[in-house]
Amino acid sequence: MVKTMEWQGQSLLLLDQTKLPAEIVTIICEDYRRVGEAIKRLEVRGAPAIGAAAAFAMTLGWQEIIVKYTGAGSETLLIEFKKIKDFLLSTRPTAVNLAWAVNKMYMQVVSLTKEQRSLQDIGTALENLACKIYQDDIAINRQIGVHGAALLPQQASILTHCNAGTLATCGWGTALGVVRQAFEDGRLAMVYADETRPLLQGARLTAWELTEDNIPVTLITDNMAAWVMQTQHLDAVIVGADRIAANGDTANKIGTYGVALAAKHHHIPFYIAAPVSTFDFTLENGNQIPIEERAADEVRLLQGVVTAPRQVKVFNPAFDVTPAEFITGIITEYGVVSAPYTENIKKLQQKLQEED
Ligand code: MRU
Repeated sequence: MVKTMEWQGQSLLLLDQTKLPAEIVTIICEDYRRVGEAIKRLEVRGAPAIGAAAAFAMTLGWQEIIVKYTGAGSETLLIEFKKIKDFLLSTRPTAVNLAWAVNKMYMQVVSLTKEQRSLQDIGTALENLACKIYQDDIAINRQIGVHGAALLPQQASILTHCNAGTLATCGWGTALGVVRQAFEDGRLAMVYADETRPLLQGARLTAWELTEDNIPVTLITDNMAAWVMQTQHLDAVIVGADRIAANGDTANKIGTYGVALAAKHHHIPFYIAAPVSTFDFTLENGNQIPIEERAADEVRLLQGVVTAPRQVKVFNPAFDVTPAEFITGIITEYGVVSAPYTENIKKLQQKLQEED
């Protein structure tokens, strides 16, 4: 399995996902700004992965401010630390895991400051927390994999969209975590991977990471998905998520909604695989999820080659929202959440609050 990122104590190494699969390039991030840039440029991408990368960026940010503001009071340090948090939050708006991770890191500093702990102690605690977010993500994905694989028949054929694999997480993957577990259990026949226009995460990343691990994969273009459902045997669609509202409406990579509609028509179960940190319990429904719009050239150009009139007007939403009614189940590390979503997501939230 490839490594998406590696913490080195005073820097974060990132596998540059914009270069895959043609080149394997490592980016060395020595400050939080470079991590923020990497998130914006999609050098590191995928909801859980950007959450973990941002947690390491917060650690780098703290290391920087305690040197820059030696002798300053805790109030100043907190103001500066909040600026770093806000900068990281501004890099990508849809995936809630980013906000979840940076808020967790920020609150850690708030509470240790109240306890009057030394700045170095706080730095160590932050580093440990970022490493825990990273390690926990891998363990969580393993659990998601076990819960998800149990839903599949023998010789399962699965369709997935975008990349919710090792590359989108700290390792193993969410949707592809289910695929990996099914493969290990000997019950996977084939994964159909949508290429995922405009940035080809399915073709460049999903097809690549599955091929690297010798997991059977067939690449299709996005406009083939409905026809694959009609003509090939498919047991399930499994995708990741960037944000799930309290009623189960789910934001994921643009194109997911169309796949869900087609799956419904063909009576194929449609699953979301995501950690509980992807739920945004504050949002009543999917209409409230902020949808990132990206640069027009992502659509006018394909891998740097112009494929449309240079000045043509473009609409480029990076995500769409699949209404809960199209979702058969949400596979989490706590098990599978199914309809009635509002009620069952509330129960999940209560469980998490009790554990806290
Ligand atoms: O724009 P990206 O590549 O960061 O898109 C996010 C995603 O990777 C997907 O939407 C994915 O399915 C959810 S993250 C496991």
